[in-house]
Amino acid sequence: MDYNLAIITQDLSKNYGKTLAVKNLNLNVPYGIIYGLLGPNGAGKTTTVKMLNSMIEPSSGNAKVMNYDIITQKKEVKLNCGYLSESPSLYEKLTAREFLEFVGELYYITPRMNAKRISELLVLFDLTNKENDLIKTFSRGMKQKLGLCAALIHDPEIIFLDEPTSNLDPETSRTVKDLVLDLVKKVNKTIFLCTHLLDTAEELCDKIGIINNGTLLIEGKPRDLIKSVDAKDLEDAYLKMLRISRNKDVLSWR
Ligand SMILES: Nc1ncnc2c1ncn2[C@@H]1O[C@H](COP(=O)(O)OP(=O)(O)O)[C@@H](O)[C@H]1O
Ligand SMILES: [Mg+2]
Repeated sequence: MDYNLAIITQDLSKNYGKTLAVKNLNLNVPYGIIYGLLGPNGAGKTTTVKMLNSMIEPSSGNAKVMNYDIITQKKEVKLNCGYLSESPSLYEKLTAREFLEFVGELYYITPRMNAKRISELLVLFDLTNKENDLIKTFSRGMKQKLGLCAALIHDPEIIFLDEPTSNLDPETSRTVKDLVLDLVKKVNKTIFLCTHLLDTAEELCDKIGIINNGTLLIEGKPRDLIKSVDAKDLEDAYLKMLRISRNKDVLSWR
């Protein structure tokens, strides 16, 4: 067991009935990096992240997050991890500040500390002048920023972001990307990012795993992956790798 790893998975698998969403996944994520899990729709990215956050249990295999067991130490996993889902559930009839107060209470943050954290996060995301507005009046980008504030409120060590920039305008997307970089560079957090946006992955990620049909095809530094298939950039490498794996699927009956 390597204690310097933020996330280790051992044959992590999940099936929904007959659908094998994730198959024998073995990932290693060191502390203090941005790890990107890439793959097409339905590849198993969201299922992986939900397992790693102790939101759903694996069908077989296991994982440790900050050395906590995702099956037997769910509470520790949740207290140490932040999670932004693909479509965050926000309570539309609360104001932004009320919602963040509620989330902070769920993490046992004291009211005084909570108020301080909320003010800092609202400033960071430029939402201060909207803090008393009902969430139902928020645009998609504002809701995403609020979802990120909620994911960061308990100052987690590891932050899971599922498609964090996919529905954002370029300016908000830039804010989120810069924040992700700052979280790693300035405060040494570990980020686990799911995305199908390859330019975002190439810019942000120190290490990348490519998953297809629930199976990890390859894992490595972006520039090593690009070199390994003689590609010109990550998009080119990604397409080449998926094509190779698709050809293998086509021939699997032989
Ligand atoms: N709650 C669920 N019930 C049944 N099937 C699911 C459920 N969630 C995901 N799946 C299936 O599992 C597979 C992986 O989905 P998902 O993890 O959401 O992929 P991704 O996030 O990479 O798009 C897909 O075939 C999807 O249809
Ligand atoms: Mg998904």
